[in-house]
Amino acid sequence: MNRTTPDDGDGPDARLRERELALERERALFAEGPVILFQWRAAEGWPVDYVSDNVRQLGYTPAQLTSGEVPFASLVHPQDLARVAEEVQRHTSAGRSYFDQEYRLIRADGEERWYYDVTHVLRDEEGRAIRYHGYILDITGRHLVEEALEDNMQELARSNAELEQFAYVASHDLQEPLRMVTSYLNLLQKRYGSSLDADAHEFIGFAVDGAVRMQKLIDDLLAYSRIGRKGMAWECVSLDEVFDAALADMQLQIADCGAEVTRDPLPVVDGDPHELRQLLENLIGNALKYRREGVVPCVHVSAEREARHWICSVSDNGIGIEARHQERVFEIFQRLHGRDRYPGTGIGLAICKKIVQHHGGRIWLESTPGEGSRFLFTLPVRNG
Ligand SMILES: Nc1ncnc2c1ncn2[C@@H]1O[C@H](COP(=O)(O)OP(=O)(O)O)[C@@H](O)[C@H]1O
Ligand SMILES: [Mg+2]
Repeated sequence: MNRTTPDDGDGPDARLRERELALERERALFAEGPVILFQWRAAEGWPVDYVSDNVRQLGYTPAQLTSGEVPFASLVHPQDLARVAEEVQRHTSAGRSYFDQEYRLIRADGEERWYYDVTHVLRDEEGRAIRYHGYILDITGRHLVEEALEDNMQELARSNAELEQFAYVASHDLQEPLRMVTSYLNLLQKRYGSSLDADAHEFIGFAVDGAVRMQKLIDDLLAYSRIGRKGMAWECVSLDEVFDAALADMQLQIADCGAEVTRDPLPVVDGDPHELRQLLENLIGNALKYRREGVVPCVHVSAEREARHWICSVSDNGIGIEARHQERVFEIFQRLHGRDRYPGTGIGLAICKKIVQHHGGRIWLESTPGEGSRFLFTLPVRNG
């Protein structure tokens, strides 16, 4: 038989030993790990009562800190000290039981390191803070990555702004020479038309075509680079009214292809009415252009609320877009067909994307080739 004494299995002594072992493990974990434990009194100068041995990673011994020879505040980076003191004060008086923050400490050898700090506030019966304890962890590596990321973002924003400025200036400056080409072609036709042969007329026709296409490209590029430029009016916009105005504008185009263009009740949003009109006109225009032969084009615009966003959609029963092209079409100059089949510059959907992003939304599409497409975009709900 297996006779067990009370001390052997799960008696009080065994439990005590288990607890000691656990404590030992915890101590070892902290002694060798990167987490430095601290305890300090809520008094002038933050006198340190206790600090774990691994504070040596900062180049100081625990005794140097607890004796006051090296005050904790003297380790904190001078640029962070006021902020750290303020945070401690703020959370303490707000009655928080713990809080966290990030700041730099300067090691004995002068190296700056970033630390993440979680501090618990110990209070007396009246709620006065008497002591703080907590831990700090070196997060310098993460901070370096974040800083590099931040630098990259700024660089990207700067080069984007430059590129947009370039597109704006270039398209603007291209208009004048283009106007010259067009007017001299006209003059040539008018003054020498009777003495030119059929070939010459054809060549002039090609040149005029080219100039017209170039004008369209410049117009679209200008429209693209104008989106989101400062000084735009931000107002309360009824999408119902925007839709009706767009439709009135497109009457001829709609009648030409015998299309049915309908809408559900649409929301009122905050935005730029001119841009939102462009957005709808581009999407409806595409729905009409990329229609299927022999089918009455049906275009429907609707909106549905989802949490803090409206999901608006423009659906058609046109030729559709294959899944592998569904992201590409939103990029500038990306077209899926030759100019001879469908005219266009490939800027329309890039304009739509920029407008939607400028309004704080996103745009995407769903489609079944040969059946139709549905372009969806979100717009934030008004007032938050
Ligand atoms: N409703 C649609 N149905 C099918 N294809 C479409 C539709 N809208 C856009 N596309 C495709 O996406 C491409 C990019 O559209 P867009 O940027 O408006 O340029 P564009 O109309 O000038 O060609 C189009 O060339 C076309 O291939
Ligand atoms: Mg288009």
